Amino acid sequence: MTTGAIADAAQFFRAWLSDPLRVASVIPSSVALAEAITAEISPATAPVIELGAGTGVFTHAIIASGVPEEQLALVELGSDFVRLLQSRFPVARIMQIDATRLKDIEPFGGIPAGAVVSGLPLLSMKPRKVMAILDGAFRHLRPDGAFYQFTYGPRCPVSRVLLDRLGLKATRIGGVLANVPPAAVYRIRRRPDRSARATHASRNGGTGCPLA
Ligand SMILES: C[S@@+](CC[C@H](N)C(=O)[O-])C[C@H]1O[C@@H](n2cnc3c(N)ncnc32)[C@H](O)[C@@H]1O
Repeated sequence: MTTGAIADAAQFFRAWLSDPLRVASVIPSSVALAEAITAEISPATAPVIELGAGTGVFTHAIIASGVPEEQLALVELGSDFVRLLQSRFPVARIMQIDATRLKDIEPFGGIPAGAVVSGLPLLSMKPRKVMAILDGAFRHLRPDGAFYQFTYGPRCPVSRVLLDRLGLKATRIGGVLANVPPAAVYRIRRRPDRSARATHASRNGGTGCPLA
């Protein structure tokens, strides 16, 4: 482990001690998990929104996938992590807000994102909160855009009921045994009929948002 990684682990642990429900893990995600959750990201995916960026493990991987830092919006609630992210990613758009307020922000002046990469602890959140996060995220995504989420649980952390309600489909795209604890990665997309409706709505002057 490098000195930087040890310092990150120590900061993460302190953040967990001060707010265990928000941070939801005692150490940052592994590089292996960061690679798995960004496996489908390419320069063409830009711009990208990251939720719950923490110390920036996924952020580094998104940039390594070819997304320019200025095409990245980082949403993080914890001021401890926000300060670190600002020093590490000075060109990214860093927003210290609750991810449930995603629908109220416009990180790229109306240009839709190709992906939302989430490090949020969805499993420990109430369904109403998860719904607000997904609704807000899909307002910012292109019709073919994807929401990437990891989980330590045995199934997708977004319930079937919620997926059905929002017209979304989840697919498990990877598993990382080398992470502590082992994790799985899910891709969540609009169901084809929904994205067809969204495209139709935007062509006809609508919001283009199937969840509005
Ligand atoms: C499990 S940690 C993941 C951090 C980092 N992405 C990683 O994988 O190491 C969860 C992160 O989400 C942030 N977070 C939790 N709830 C949030 C919310 N409602 N809005 C924005 N960020 C939140 C926490 O502060 C923390 O940085």
